[in-house]
Amino acid sequence: MNIAHRQFDTLIIGAGGGGLRAALQLSQADAHVAVVSKVFPTRSHTVAAQGGVNAALANVRPDNWHWHMFDTVKGSDYLGDQDAIEYMCRAAPKAVYELEHYGVPFSRQDDGRIYQRQFGGQSMNFGGEQAARTCAAADRTGHAILHSLYQQNIRARTHFFDEYFAVDLLNDADGQALGALVLDIATGELLVIEAKTTLIATGGAGQIFRTNTNALINTGDGMAMSLRAGVPLQDMEFFQFHPTGIAGKGMLLSEGARGEGGYLVNSEGERFMERYAPHAKDLASRDVVSRAIVTEVREGRGCGPGKDHVLLTLTHLDPDMIKKRLPAIRDMALTFAGVDMCDTPVPVFPTAHYTMGGIPTNRFGEVVAPIDHGPEEAIPGLYAAGECACVSVHGGNRLGGNSLLDIIVFGRAAGNQIIDFLNENKYHRPMRDEVVEPVLERLARWDKQGDGESVDAMRSELTRTMEEHCGVFRTEDVLKEGVDRVQALAARMPDVRLRDHSRVFNTARIEALELENLMDVAIATIMSAWKRHESRGAHSRVDYPERDDVNWLRHSLYHKQDNSIDYKPVRTKPLTVDSFPPKPRTY
Ligand code: FUM
Repeated sequence: MNIAHRQFDTLIIGAGGGGLRAALQLSQADAHVAVVSKVFPTRSHTVAAQGGVNAALANVRPDNWHWHMFDTVKGSDYLGDQDAIEYMCRAAPKAVYELEHYGVPFSRQDDGRIYQRQFGGQSMNFGGEQAARTCAAADRTGHAILHSLYQQNIRARTHFFDEYFAVDLLNDADGQALGALVLDIATGELLVIEAKTTLIATGGAGQIFRTNTNALINTGDGMAMSLRAGVPLQDMEFFQFHPTGIAGKGMLLSEGARGEGGYLVNSEGERFMERYAPHAKDLASRDVVSRAIVTEVREGRGCGPGKDHVLLTLTHLDPDMIKKRLPAIRDMALTFAGVDMCDTPVPVFPTAHYTMGGIPTNRFGEVVAPIDHGPEEAIPGLYAAGECACVSVHGGNRLGGNSLLDIIVFGRAAGNQIIDFLNENKYHRPMRDEVVEPVLERLARWDKQGDGESVDAMRSELTRTMEEHCGVFRTEDVLKEGVDRVQALAARMPDVRLRDHSRVFNTARIEALELENLMDVAIATIMSAWKRHESRGAHSRVDYPERDDVNWLRHSLYHKQDNSIDYKPVRTKPLTVDSFPPKPRTY
């Protein structure tokens, strides 16, 4: 086999905030780190995060990490693992100050301290008055964080493979991670990256849905790679729909808009969230607000000629405040909805936003899973962090502002854990040809042109099917039909026709590889949703409307090889404080 090999201590797949935070930890400790990214690093999807990052700094209102923990456990509808949640909430202030020292230009209060805005599901004093916990850089917080982390990595001499596509993980016969086969998108050349440790940080899979807030690159590559390596995916039925996507288009309008005082109205001009969440109103948890919007539309109180959306209004707020705190979403509304939110309400509707499930990990970033239904164990040398991972701090519903926190806290934790591993595992394990061959065989399928449907047509049908069959409200029949349709689509994959094969060969091949990944993640998602017979967090079953803690307070684990699902208990015991036992969840 005539493929170049390169050796590193650590291979990081994905250059969003999780990957870059881990890379920085490692490079600063003198590890030899490669980051592979299918786009230039600062185009990773972290760049699109708007509203901010949660930490109990208490700059605006009283706060502490224990209240943050309570809100996160409650927000997760009690499916989050409380040890990991405690760890994250306790680590948050330090993690944010580290970012500040890396150069993140946070917005400031008059006294110079970091500005914090109100976000959904936040409370003081374990469910009391609204908290203000989200540290913001206007409404471009992810952009600010990603650029600072990239610059720090350049300074720390992290090695970047920009615009390389990771095809598959490489593992030896006893399951230890050895690196990955990657492909230079510009030239089509293959490269084997041998690494003592591999961290998957490829982000989410919002592209399985037609209307979403995600970048086109968010095709669940790392999750699909893990499935192919025998690692099951956890809690995939829990997909977050953000309440305020631009209607009909899906682009994100930050929860920060409601945090700064905006609110939702229906066609009767009613602030309808007062009925659904009398206490928190427009700042209830996202699952609650999304269901309320869809219910308003279904019951005929939608706005516009099609009565198919509601309105987000900020017209009562000071235009100078909007221009200062929310400049990017004002631009977004101008560009994509044609309205200036300073004087006109914006049409909004829920849009697919965030993959709460993913590759199962512990709080150190180690991938811990029952490979091929065996005992649950840490896979030596394999780590995951960020949206592709399920640690699980978000459970059934993530709180806004906890995703940027997740990536910096668990990116850092994974980096530290990898440093320990490298200290004890000084040498590369041999990379035999037999390890690479199956991946090459899979890749070779895309060297020949199929005569079936185009990649584009298949991708559109997949995303439409997921939207119609696995949306905000779910039922048995609709889910089952969706499962059948997605499986039938997957069965047609071998004949798929690549786009303009002769002239744009690599791009066409990457599109096919991404479609394969989307297909695997979509099946995991809709199968897990079909099998969970309760309503919890973002998974709302009309036919099973109640949360069922007796039978379903457990994580799902979807296995690709036999299309089956196992379950495992939620870790309800925190590290140092008392558990928050499940309670009725009201806002
Ligand atoms: O609404 C937002 O700004 C999104 C934040 C998040 O998903 O955490």
